[in-house]
This record gives sequence, structure tokens and C-alpha cells, in this order.
Amino acid sequence: MTAPSARAAANPTPNDLESFWMPFTPNRAFKAAPRLIVGAEGLEYVTTDGRRVIDGTSGLWCCNAGHNRAPIVEAIRRQAGELDYAPPFQFGHPKAFEAASRIAALAPGDLDHVFFANSGSEAVDTALKIALAYQNVTGKGGRTRLIGRERGYHGVGFGGISVGGIVGNRKMYGTLLTGVDHLPTIYSREQQAFTKGEPEWGAHLADELERIVGLHDASTIAAVIVEPMAGSTGVLPSPKGYLQKLRAICDRYGILLIFDEVITGFGRLGFAFAAERYGVVPDILTFAKAVNSGTVPMGGAIVRKPVFDAFMQGPEGAIELPHGYTYSGHPLAAAAAVAALDLYRDEGLFERARALEPRWADAVMALKSLPGILDIRTVGLAAGIDLDPRPGAPGRRAYEVMVAAYEAGAMVRVTADTIALSPPLIVDDATIGRLTGILAGAIRKVG
Ligand SMILES: Cc1ncc(COP(=O)(O)O)c(C=O)c1O
Repeated sequence: MTAPSARAAANPTPNDLESFWMPFTPNRAFKAAPRLIVGAEGLEYVTTDGRRVIDGTSGLWCCNAGHNRAPIVEAIRRQAGELDYAPPFQFGHPKAFEAASRIAALAPGDLDHVFFANSGSEAVDTALKIALAYQNVTGKGGRTRLIGRERGYHGVGFGGISVGGIVGNRKMYGTLLTGVDHLPTIYSREQQAFTKGEPEWGAHLADELERIVGLHDASTIAAVIVEPMAGSTGVLPSPKGYLQKLRAICDRYGILLIFDEVITGFGRLGFAFAAERYGVVPDILTFAKAVNSGTVPMGGAIVRKPVFDAFMQGPEGAIELPHGYTYSGHPLAAAAAVAALDLYRDEGLFERARALEPRWADAVMALKSLPGILDIRTVGLAAGIDLDPRPGAPGRRAYEVMVAAYEAGAMVRVTADTIALSPPLIVDDATIGRLTGILAGAIRKVG
């Protein structure tokens, strides 16, 4: 096998960066000083100039098994040679059924049917549509409201940004879905700063759902959607008891509970799903990203048996849910998912994340003494580090830290003035030490 650095040397910087309109990226700044990745292996990326960079973010919260893992690569190759594509409407192929069974087997309780999409955003839209349709087919068509949460991130579809709570992602796009309301954020720096794991303070914030029910009446509300740990907005773990309360209120009023586990699924919090960590079974659970360790686009929604069964009525020849994507359960994505789930199981990666969590938390929390750190949060193998924003230049400091860390050999992620870390679950103590060391150096350098 050719070493990644040798391969990288054969992949120089492209001479035209103009045509690709990059997502969630300052295009002009990037193209003036590009950071291009041409190879990867295990815990590291390789850059165009042949440098090795520690992946402190599992790509974008997705490569949980590490990079270019042979069993996954081989499964994709094999599948591409056998069956490139088969339509998922009215036809099928075995790998999609196998992937669905394997995913359902990992989900807690009676979450046992899987609807495939191709991304987290599509997974969220799928879940919201199933929730609305469920109310409809069970004779409660008046339940049309969807409840999200401030600071929530549910992707970029119109459904996702409507229930999402990140103002920058919403404000340019008109009126969005109507009939949406939001719970308050679960984060309070005053009450929770420098907490390892789930904060003690904040369970009462779930009671705000009672207030929303009081305002709109339960008979108008279809579903509530939350992330068990809000990742994209800066790593905000649920306060202790919060999700249990939310579950109880939803049960009281016949409201469906959706967990968006696009980030927390497949080991990030030390369990297959965060639902298992918290002992709370939602009615619908979304996933994407790490389902196949980020190798081929795939997402989906897992639903509880009673939700699925409600649709399996009426004439057998009728389509029960008019929804789906050309690439739902794509053969390459499905084959990669089965291989990734095998790898997670065979290498005990979810358990590994759970075992590493205390050491990870200590290593990241040690950055507390650096200048300008306002808060550090850790949970599972994830961490959020809030930097004091530069006056009049929000996000600038964290951006500079990200660039400095990359130049020094580590990829970290920024969102506003928060640095987010989420290494592959194969990470070891030595790499955690190098990653936090490089980050500390970058924070000091940027000042
Ligand atoms: C909780 C959550 N939901 C949905 C999404 C959207 O996923 P995608 O970018 O694959 O559409 C993300 C992406 O980070 C996410 O964190």
C-alpha cells in the first residue's frame, strides 16, 4: 500500500478553486489560504504539502472508526463491483435490509423500523414528516405544531432550520415552517461552567414544554425534537434528568418525542445511541454521519413499533408513506454501514469511548488555566471550549485558533467562539495528549 504522504505528494493544490461554492465556509478567505486534505489514515489526515494532521473532529463528527479503515474500504469496493445502484421505490436490494436490521438491533426499546435518507438534514425532515403523518393517520390531524429548542441544530432543510434555534442559519430564509415553537436553551454559563458530563442544573428547563402546551394546547402539537447533546452549537450536554422529564411530559400530552442523534449516534457518548446512555426511548430517532463512519452519505430515522404499525393499515397495495429519496439505502452506503457496524462491534469502540471518557475529560479540562477560557464542557468523547470573543469581532479568535492548530498539526472545529473536539473513537491517550497540547499552543499563540 502506498503511504498517505507519498500519495499526497502526487496530489498538488488544484490550480482553480473558484467554481466550488463551499458550504458553511468563508469562501474568499479559504481560497486565499486553502487548507486541502488529500489523504487520511487512522487518526490522521494528510495535507497537500504532505503534513500529517491529527483529526480532532472525526472529520465532521462522522469518522468514528478512524479513517480509511480496510474492512469498510473493502466493503465499498466489493459492493461497487457487484451492484452499483438499485431503486428503493418498489424494488430493493439485500444490503439495505441488512443495514436496517443491524441499525434497529442497536437501538433501544421498540425502536425497530428504519427509514433511510442521505444526510442528517434529510433524516430530520423525514422524522418531522413521519411525526406529522402519524398524527394524521391516527385521527389527530389537528396536531401540526413542531417544537424545537433554542440553539438546536437540525441541519439545513426547511424543516430542520424551522425547529432549529441558531439565528444565523434561519434569518436569511424567510418565514420557514409555520406553527413552530421553541424550548429555551439548556445552557447557562453562570450555572454550569466547567462541568464534566451532564450538568446538575437545568432539568427544570424541560418544564417549559408545559408552558408551551398551555399556550397552544396539546391537541395542536405533533412532536418535540431535541439533540440529547447539542453538538454543532458548541457541545451542550443535557442536564441530569432533563430528557426524562421531557419524555414524561410528552407522554402526558400524547406528543411524539424525537431525538436527533445525528452526532450522538454510534458511540460518541459511549453507547450506540445517547438514548441508551440516558435510559430514555424517543418515538423517533434520527441518525447519519457515523452510521458508516462518514464514508458514504447516509442518514435515516428509526421509529418505534407503534408508530410504524399505525401506517401499516388499509389496502396492502397502497403506499403507506409518500416519502423517500432516490438514494434511500444506497447499496454503497448500506454496505459501508454494515462494515462499520461490524468494526464498531469487533473493536468494542463504543465501550472504548466510555472507558476513555474520564481521561478525555481530565485532559481537556486541563486547558482551563489558559488565558481567555470562559467555559469547557465535556461529555463522552466530545468537548466544547468557549473562548472570550474579541471585542467587535465575534468568532475571530476561535477561527484564528483553528488555523494555528491546523498549521501546528491538529484539526479542530469552530462554531462562533467555541472550539469543538470529537476525535475518532480509536483515539488513544498519547494522541489525546498531542491534540490538547497542540490546541493549548495555538490558544497561547493567538492570545
Ligand atoms: C444534530 C444534527 N442534526 C442534523 C445535522 C445535519 O446533518 P447533515 O449535515 O448531514 O445534513 C447535523 C449536522 O451536524 C446535526 O449535528
